Amino acid sequence: MSLVADSLSEPCVENVPLHEIAERFGTPCYVYSQAALVAAFSDYRAALANRNARICYAVKANSNLSILKLFAARGAGFDIVSGGELARVIAAGGDPGKVVFSGVGKSRTEINEALARNIYCFNVESTSELELLNRVAGEAGKRAPIALRVNPDVDPKTHPYISTGLKSAKFGVAFDQAAALYRLAQGLPNLRIRGIACHIGSQLLDPQPAADAAGKLLELVDALALAGITLEHIDLGGGMGIRYRDEVVLPVADYLAPMLSRLAHRKEMLLVEPGRSLVGNAGLLLTRVEVLKHGEQKNFAVVDAAMNDLARPALYDAWHDIVKVGAGGTAPGKPLRYEIVGPICESGDFLGHDRELPLVEGDLLAILSAGAYGMAMSSNYNTRPRVAEVMVDGSEARLIRKRETVDDLLANELPLL
Ligand code: LLP
Repeated sequence: MSLVADSLSEPCVENVPLHEIAERFGTPCYVYSQAALVAAFSDYRAALANRNARICYAVKANSNLSILKLFAARGAGFDIVSGGELARVIAAGGDPGKVVFSGVGKSRTEINEALARNIYCFNVESTSELELLNRVAGEAGKRAPIALRVNPDVDPKTHPYISTGLKSAKFGVAFDQAAALYRLAQGLPNLRIRGIACHIGSQLLDPQPAADAAGKLLELVDALALAGITLEHIDLGGGMGIRYRDEVVLPVADYLAPMLSRLAHRKEMLLVEPGRSLVGNAGLLLTRVEVLKHGEQKNFAVVDAAMNDLARPALYDAWHDIVKVGAGGTAPGKPLRYEIVGPICESGDFLGHDRELPLVEGDLLAILSAGAYGMAMSSNYNTRPRVAEVMVDGSEARLIRKRETVDDLLANELPLL
């Protein structure tokens, strides 16, 4: 979906022309729209209004402090998967009392930090983890609040790398074993059972799998209640998809409706953990065409961004729309089909295949729908400093993360004499 509008008869994010952002902050850089972020959050809030519900933003999708701050200020909780993400939430003024801690391999140190901050809940993914939590909490003189992440074994019909709720997945505990684990947890003195959790996958377009997962979880919740284990919340994870190309994406309220109707009249608090659907279409990656190469079989546009800046195309063969947003020359080039590639020494280093664009060298391109799992998954491969991030609010553009320097990259190395 396009974040770029021709507001001033030139391509802009909100009211700021993208060529001005490129001149002021350099390329490549990520550009976010504050209005789009706030609107996405408000849509969730509206869809869950009049319910006992909490939106726990999945920090992994984009962990920039300014973005966390925007959501924290609007009452968000957070879904974290590491001690680092907890530190970010706290630095952004988020409330640890609204944090859920997911992940299959939490370390003792991370558990201790989270206990010290009194987070709302640990989403536990194995028997070993239950026992570890009980031990570490006991040593700290605390009771660890827990939910079991249960694997409802529904097929989310998404990319295999991002479907997480099938029996074959490394995530969660098997549905059939969950009741026994709750009984085990009940007998462990340093645990406090709070709820139940699941997350079936990401980039989901069909609302039915999430509704089915809710239905399965409720069966378990009711069976547990009969056995004297009452839960205070049901966490249905994240997963709602966004439009990258031509996907049909429901409004949030419509996506959530089937799931919410299963949960009608329930007293438990509902938690959701959206990531991509809050930030994905609120960001783009701005890049400049360095070189045009006309090969025998293909034309290549080598841009200054690469797979280390946006890994999704290389990693998942993901599609991101790419639009020309600023002219390198006075006349546009002849429209040709280009491979949009980065300068990294790998054939897999591409950002888009076969895109018809009227390019000349120096043109600016926007790689759209890059707000989720873009900057957050970037790396320093090829000793490329990570790029700058810019937040646009109306007519104002502000740097929210400095571009790294090569000195930053060398700073932690201890060369042998
Ligand atoms: N909760 C849990 C426990 C998760 O594992 C995830 C994502 C979320 C919430 C947020 O899901 P979302 O609402 O963003 O779909 N790097 C991949 C996506 C990996 C998703 C991992 N888990 C990508 O770029 O498509």
